[in-house]
Amino acid sequence: MASARRHRARAGGWPTLGDVTIAVCPGSFDPITLGHVDVVRRAASMFDEVVVGIARNSAKSALLTPDERVALARKALADVPNVRVEAVDGLLADFVTQVGAHAVVKGLRSGADFDAELPMALMNRHLSTVETVFVVGDPALAHVASSLVKDVARYGGPIDDLVPAGVGEAVRDALARATTRS
Ligand code: PNS
Repeated sequence: MASARRHRARAGGWPTLGDVTIAVCPGSFDPITLGHVDVVRRAASMFDEVVVGIARNSAKSALLTPDERVALARKALADVPNVRVEAVDGLLADFVTQVGAHAVVKGLRSGADFDAELPMALMNRHLSTVETVFVVGDPALAHVASSLVKDVARYGGPIDDLVPAGVGEAVRDALARATTRS
């Protein structure tokens, strides 16, 4: 937490002329979907640099390993020059401080998303003073959620038109591994 307080002292408010603006797009990305890609691209058009932070959500148990999620996100976003993908090992608020970000960017598909995001935005601001910016995603992708994608795949349904190239195969492989284990 000391690092988060240092950020508050150093940042001293909004970026001034000449500053490179940096945003963090955090999430579980288990797996990355076309909805995530849409939101990250929108963030990349608003900020000089975007760091996609692949984090742990303690309320969810992940299907893909952190390394797999990072690799799939890197491949999906390789064509966006001002985006990089990194793993978040601890608190998002500390990660935001480490990368010197001015904002967290999250996508909203619905009021339910806002209800889920608001407490996290307030907690992250409490911890590090970082502001969260909400971006409205493409309504054509409003039904696309990682949890639904995994559920459709679990029952043999088609997911390849909901996720970037190569992700469907990775999800099916991971589901097969999980089935073998159980
Ligand atoms: O895609 P998700 O699951 O909605 O993303 C939530 C996530 C991973 C961004 C959130 O759980 C998170 O920030 N995890 C890192 C640990 C942390 O900082 N927890 C406190 C959040 S206020």
